[in-house]
Formats: sequence, structure tokens, C-alpha cells
Amino acid sequence: MSETYTRASELLYHGHSAKGQDYNYPASFPLFTNTSFTMNSLAQVREAYRSKFTYVRTNNPNREALADMVSYFENGEKSLICSSGMAAITTTLMTVLKPGDHIICNSFIYGETFDVMTKLMRKFGVESDLVSFDDMDQVRAAVKPNTKLIYSEVCANPTMNIADIPTLAEIAHKNGAYLMIDNTFTTAVSIRPLDLGADIVISSMTKFMNGHSNAISGSITASAQIIDAIHPIRMLCGTPGDPYAAWTIATNMQTVFLRVKKQMANAAQLAAALEKNPHVSKVNHPSLESFPQHELALKLFAGNDAMTGMMSFIVPEDMEKIDQFMERLHFARYATTLGGIHTTLNHPVTSSHSHMPDADRRKMGITPGMFRLSVGIEEPEDLIKDFYQALEVFDK
Ligand SMILES: Cc1ncc(COP(=O)(O)O)c(C=O)c1O
Repeated sequence: MSETYTRASELLYHGHSAKGQDYNYPASFPLFTNTSFTMNSLAQVREAYRSKFTYVRTNNPNREALADMVSYFENGEKSLICSSGMAAITTTLMTVLKPGDHIICNSFIYGETFDVMTKLMRKFGVESDLVSFDDMDQVRAAVKPNTKLIYSEVCANPTMNIADIPTLAEIAHKNGAYLMIDNTFTTAVSIRPLDLGADIVISSMTKFMNGHSNAISGSITASAQIIDAIHPIRMLCGTPGDPYAAWTIATNMQTVFLRVKKQMANAAQLAAALEKNPHVSKVNHPSLESFPQHELALKLFAGNDAMTGMMSFIVPEDMEKIDQFMERLHFARYATTLGGIHTTLNHPVTSSHSHMPDADRRKMGITPGMFRLSVGIEEPEDLIKDFYQALEVFDK
């Protein structure tokens, strides 16, 4: 990370090498709020358009510094920073697909990505099929001659089903398609999809990558060829990220390894403890032996403590007691986001999955007793004690 950060810092000095001036550099990365950079001659204008900074929607030092950090993080060739995770997804799809193309998408997917696949893309003549990626034969059977893209999250919201990235890459590449992976719930601290064969990795940086619930942004990492094709589309769509968000996230990204390692370890510990509580009928976390894809998880991730800071669990469907349970929690607060340093919880049936018929939700394992948890960096013993005392409301 430090090597990239130095390289990113050098970007600021328009060619002045950090080695040429060994003191008086800002100790932290400055924020460039300017919308434009000045030039003194047409020769300089031509040079600036080729290789320097011009206008904020085209390029900006804070975005480029962050993009450099993300390329290092994901072990990819090149990255782009967008205004949100959704901007990263739609801008990429607008670039790599055309009318008549076909996408195969995991049916266990973030609600708004589901809408992009089933509404937005179809409006522009792109076909999509949503199938369960728990079964690779369903993915193979969905392939058509015009399949150009296979899409999945590493870990699905809120049931945590995981994607077999190496097998998906094999299926995609055999058929001349790209594999695009959303790494939001896991991050490159846990898994690097590009190393496992994916062609494009995107993340909502709004979540774990930033970790402080105070900025919105998205990243795309891929080969230089793919990224260079997305760059002009991002300019036309107006989806490059704002410099202040890029500056905030670049600052917070410096602690991403410390934070996310602790969040993943806490989640594994909390999941194991909740599974033993008599009021919890089910816990979904890939570290648990009861998780249907536990063996696949052990193949994809470095260990039980290195999978994801996300999990879900199911309590009795007594809405009055569920409210009392939430009120009794001291650490976990309800929030419509995830990945921050504080533990937050969310109720899929009244939020992300509220538009779905109950029977369909139940088929996916989502019941009114389900909570999704994003585990923070608190001491795990405190979290376990707190959940246990709050769960006592179901005693009577
Ligand atoms: C898995 C996943 N992907 C993408 C997004 C979209 O990110 P953003 O809100 O930054 O647009 C979200 C948002 O919650 C998400 O959970």
C-alpha cells in the first residue's frame, strides 16, 4: 500500500519526482477542490489532454490517487472511481454490452442490481437471465451464443450464498464472456476475484472500503483495455466520483486491512456464539460448518476468520418482541448501510426485500425473523454479551 501511496502522491506534483525534493511534502494527501487546471499555451493544452489534469469530470488527482490504491488492493491493472457502487455497475455494463447481448446474473443479488439486470438493461435491448449460482449446472444451462457477461456478488445479501468464482470464470471464458464480480461484502482483504479468474471487479466503496459511513463512491478494476474503454463512457454518463469523497475514502482506506480483518474475525466469533443461542433458529455465515457452502468457503478464503464481516440470523417471528429486542441492543444500531466500524443491523423483510411476496422470500430463506448484521470493530465479547441479553426478550 505504501508504495502505491507514494506513487499516488507523486501524481500531485506533475512530474516532479518525490526523490528530487526530500522534504516539505504534505504528510497526508491534500484535497483538490478545483474543477480545472490551468495551462499557458496550446502545446501545454495538448499535453494536458494527453497525460495531465484538465477538467474535474475527466480527471482529478484525488480520484486518480484512490484508483491507484484500489488497483494495488485488488491486484488489478487499472481502476476507475465512480460516484457510487451503482455508478460503477451501470457504467461498466453500458460499456461492455450492446443491444442483443445476454447476461447471466446470480438470482441472489442486491435489490438495485436486480433492477438494473431485469429492468434497465432490458430497456436497452440487453437480455438477462437470473439463476441460482448455488448450482453451476444452472449457470451452464443458461449460456446462450450471445452471452457476453456473467455477474455475481462474492457473498449474497442477506443469505450469504457464495459464488464459485473459479468455476464461473471457466464457464464465462469457454463461451467468450466476461466474468464481473461485486466484492462489496468481502473486499480484497478477504478475496481478490481477479486472481481467481474474474475479468472485472467492482465495489461499493461506500461500505467496508471506506468503513466510516461518511462517503459514497464505487470502484471498477480490470485490464487497461477494459478500463480505457469505460473511461470515456464514465465521462459521458457523468458518473466519476466527487473529489471530496475520493479524498475521504483514500484517507480511510489506509486502515482497511486493520478494520476489515477485525470485522471478519468478529463476525465469525459472533456467528458461532449466536448459533448456540436457543432463540436463534439459524445463522448464515460461511465460517459455520452448518453453512451449506462451508467447504467452498474454505477453498475460496484464507480461513474462518478471513471471510466476511457480514452475516444474518433468524429469531422467532414475533414482531412485538423483535422491536423489544432491537431496543435492548446497546451496540448494534439499525442502519440502511453496512461495512462501517460500528455494528449495524437491518431487517430485510421491511427494507431490501419488502417488495417481494412472502412466499418468494421464504423460498430464498428470508423470513420476518431474519436480521442482517454488519459486524464492526467492537470487542467481540461485548457484542456477544449484548446480543445474548437482548435475545432474553424471547424467553417469555
Ligand atoms: C452488494 C452491493 N453492491 C452494490 C451496492 C450499491 O452501492 P452504492 O450504494 O454505493 O451505490 C450495494 C449497496 O448497498 C451493495 O450492497
